[in-house]
Amino acid sequence: AEVAAAAAEKAKLSSVVEIPTIEGSDPESDPLDAFKNVLAAQLSKLVDVNIKIMYDALEAPRASENGHIALSVARLRLKGNPTEIAADIVEKFQLNDYIKLAKADGPFVNFFLNHIKLSQALFKKVYDTKENWGGNKRGENRKVVVEFSSPNIAKPFHAGHLRSTIIGSFVRNILAANGYGVISMNYLGDWGKQYGLLAVGFERYGSEEKLLEDPIKHLFDVYVKINQDAKENEAVHDEARAYFKKMEDGDEAALKIWSHFRDLSIVKYREIYARLNIAFDVYSGESQVTDGMNRALKMLHEKNLLTESDGALIIDLSKYKLGICVVQKKDGTTLYITRDIGAAIERYETYGFEHMYYIVASQQDLHLKQLFKILELLGFDWAKKLTHLNFGMVGGMSTRKGTVVFLEDILEETRDAMHEVMKKNEHKYAQIDDPMDVADNIGISAIMVQDASARRIKNYDFDWKRMFSFEGDTGPYLQYAHARLCSIERKTEMEVNPNADLTHLGDSRAAADLITMIARYPQIVRDTISGGKFEPVNIVGYAMKLSHHVSQALESMYVMGAEKDVAEARLFMYWSARITLGNAMRLLNLKPQERM
Ligand code: ARG
Repeated sequence: AEVAAAAAEKAKLSSVVEIPTIEGSDPESDPLDAFKNVLAAQLSKLVDVNIKIMYDALEAPRASENGHIALSVARLRLKGNPTEIAADIVEKFQLNDYIKLAKADGPFVNFFLNHIKLSQALFKKVYDTKENWGGNKRGENRKVVVEFSSPNIAKPFHAGHLRSTIIGSFVRNILAANGYGVISMNYLGDWGKQYGLLAVGFERYGSEEKLLEDPIKHLFDVYVKINQDAKENEAVHDEARAYFKKMEDGDEAALKIWSHFRDLSIVKYREIYARLNIAFDVYSGESQVTDGMNRALKMLHEKNLLTESDGALIIDLSKYKLGICVVQKKDGTTLYITRDIGAAIERYETYGFEHMYYIVASQQDLHLKQLFKILELLGFDWAKKLTHLNFGMVGGMSTRKGTVVFLEDILEETRDAMHEVMKKNEHKYAQIDDPMDVADNIGISAIMVQDASARRIKNYDFDWKRMFSFEGDTGPYLQYAHARLCSIERKTEMEVNPNADLTHLGDSRAAADLITMIARYPQIVRDTISGGKFEPVNIVGYAMKLSHHVSQALESMYVMGAEKDVAEARLFMYWSARITLGNAMRLLNLKPQERM
C-alpha cells in the first residue's frame, strides 16, 4: 500500500511540474524561464523540434493583447506552412497549470500564462534578491575592463565625453548585473606636447590660488591664453616642445608641476562624477603608460613593421585600408596611438582581462581600428578581445552663457531649469524638503535618459525643453513613476508581506500584463549584452513599458481602501514593480527618487 501511495504521489508531482533544463535558459534566477521551459518541453514533443530551438523561438509578443509568450513558428524552420502548423499546435496543445490559453495568430501561437502562479514564484524571487533582482551569474570569474569618459586635462569636457561617461557607466552596470567582474577605468588625456604648453602657460598666467579653487577652469583659462600667445609667436611652441621633452625624459621638476595639475584635476573630476552617480576603479591616463610602449616599439621593429620616414617612425597599414600611423616623432617623442598601444599591453598584463571595451565617439573609429590592427600584427591573440563601443554626436549642448561647455555648467543649468519646471506645480513643490537636490537628481536623469533613448550610433540634439517633460519617454517620467510607487507604499502604512495570498490579484488583464512585464526583466538584462550590442535604449524602453503597465494597473487596482487580503496582494505586486523599476533605473545610472 505504501509503495502504491508513493507512486501515486510521484505521478501527481510529475503531472504538475517537471522543469527541464535548457541551455541558455535560467529558471533558477528567472521565474519566467520556468514557464518557458515547461512550454518548450511540450511544444518540442508536439512538433518534434529540439527543445533548445523551441525555447529560442519563444518571444515576447509585440502587444499584450497577444498574450504573454508567443511562439514564432517560422523560427522553427519546419517544412510546411507556418500558419497551418500554428493552428495544428493550438489544436493539440494541452493546457496545464502554467498555460491557461493558446491562440493561433497567423504564423504565431500566443500563450496566456497563469499569471497568479507566475506571480507566486516571481514576487518571492524579487523579495529574496531585492537590488540584485534581475541579475545573473553568467560572467562569474570573468574580468572585463571598461574604459570610458577619458577627458583631457585643461581642455573642455565636451559632449563626446559626456556621452562616453553615460554609455560607459551603463556598460559597466549591465556587465556587473550579468555577473562580470568589471574594472571601470578613466584614461585621462594628460600627456603630450599640449601639457608642455600648459606648463609654459602656467609660468606666465597661473595662480596657485585659482588652481586650488577650480583646477579645471583655471587650467583651461591658462591653456586658452598660452595658445593665443603661441599663435602669435612660434617660439612659444619651441618652449612647449622642449618642456614636453623634459617630461618624457623624466625630469623631476617638470614632472612635479605637471602631476600637481593632474592630481588637483582628478579631485575635481571625482566630485563631478559623484554628482552623476559614477565612480571609477582606476584613474589611469596617457601619462601612466610606461615601458609597454618601448617594448611595443621594439617588437614592431623586430617584426619589420616600422618604417622610417623623415626621421619619424611609421606603420604602414594601407594594405588593410587603415592608412599610415606615425608612432614616433622626429624628436623621439610619442603619440596618442603609441600610448594606446602601450596602455593596452600593460592593461592585459595587469588585469588579464577576458574582454576590454573602449567607449569612445565614432570620430575615433579609425584610430581604434588602427590600434586593434597593430596589436594583432604584434601577435597578441588577445587583440580579438578588444571592442570599440562607439556612438554618434550630440548637437546643441552649449550653455546660455556661451559655447564653451564645462560639464559643471551644464549640470548647474540643468538643475535650475528643472527647478523652474517643478515650481510650476505649487502644491507638490511645497511638499518637497530639499527641492534643489531633487531638481539636481531629476535634471541629471533627464540628461541620462535623453542620451539613452536612441541607438548609440545615432546623432541627436540636446533638447532642453523635451527632456524635462514629465510626459513622454523622459527621465522625469521614470522618476515620477518610481516616486509614485514609493508613495503608495508609504500611504498604506502596511509592511510588504511576502506570504500574501496572491490569488487575490484576480483575473484582471492589467495585473497579468504587469506581472509578465516584471517577469521579463531578467531576460532583458541578459539580452542587452548578448551579441555585444550594449544598447541602453533596451533598458529605457523596458522601464517605460513597465511604468505604463504600472499606471494601467493603478487605474483599477487600488491598495488604499481595498479589503485587507486584496490590499496585501496588490501591495506585493506594486512593491515588486518598484524594485524592478528601481533596478532598471540604476542600470541606467539614475538614482531612483522616493519623493518628488
Ligand atoms: N582623451 C581622448 C579624447 O578626449 C579619449 C580617449 C579614448 N580612449 C583611448 N584609449 N584612446 O579624445
